[in-house]
Amino acid sequence: MHAKKIVMVTAYDYPSAKIANAADVDMILVGDSAANVIHGMKSTKEIGMHEMLLHVAAVSRSKPKALVVADMPYGSDTTPLKALGNARLFIKAGAGAVKIEGAKPQAIEAIAKAGILAMGHLGYLPQTAEKPAVERDEKALLRDAKALEAAGASWIVLELVPEKIAKKISQTISIPTIGIGAGRYCSGQVLVFHDILGLGDPDFNPKFLKKYASLGEGAVKAIKKYAKEVREGKFPEKKNVY
Ligand code: KIV
Repeated sequence: MHAKKIVMVTAYDYPSAKIANAADVDMILVGDSAANVIHGMKSTKEIGMHEMLLHVAAVSRSKPKALVVADMPYGSDTTPLKALGNARLFIKAGAGAVKIEGAKPQAIEAIAKAGILAMGHLGYLPQTAEKPAVERDEKALLRDAKALEAAGASWIVLELVPEKIAKKISQTISIPTIGIGAGRYCSGQVLVFHDILGLGDPDFNPKFLKKYASLGEGAVKAIKKYAKEVREGKFPEKKNVY
C-alpha cells in the first residue's frame, strides 16, 4: 500500500486550470515558469506581480477544487513586509496559498503568521541561478528545510536535488515535500503543464521529465489541415454558414 502522494501541476490560464482540475490533481501551481512557457521570456526573473496576478485570477476563475498556489515572482519577496503585501494580493486574486523561492524563513513566517498558507522552494532556484544544476549541498538543504518548517511553511518544493538527499529531508521534516527532479521519496511531485503534455520546447528533455502526451504535434497537424482546407476553399462548408 502506497502512502497517498500529493499531485501538483502548473497551470497559468483558465483552460489549463480546467484541464488540471478535471484530471483531479491536488494542487495547481501558478508558477513563475509562466515567464518561459507562456511569455517566451529567457528567465523567470523577467516576470512580475502584474503578469502573475493576471495568471492567478484566470486560473481561479475556473473555480478549481484543487488548491491554487501562486508563485511569488523575483523581487516580490525581498522583505517580509513586501512578501506579505504581495501574498495578500495573490489571495485577493483567488489563490489559496503562495510559494516563495529560496531560503527566506522570515518572509515565510510573516505570511504564515498572517494566516496565509506558505510553500517553500529549495534546491535549484531558477530566479537566481545562472543555469539549471543539481543542488548537492546536503547540510545547507537540511538546514534550510528545517528553518522553513520552523517558520511555518506548510510544504517545501525540492527542485533538482539528489534522491538520497530529498529522501533524508522528507524523513527529517514533518511537512510534505514536493519534488521535481528530486526522486521517488518526496511526499508529492510537480511538473509543468506544457512539459507533461508535450506542448513545450521539443528540445527540452531533462532526465527528470516524463512526457505523457505529444499534443504539440497533434496541434500542428490540426492547424495545418485547417489552413489547407481554407486555401483549397473546403472550409467553411455549407453547414458552417448562417
Ligand atoms: O514555476 C514553476 O513552475 C515552479 C516549479 C518548477 C516548481 O516553480
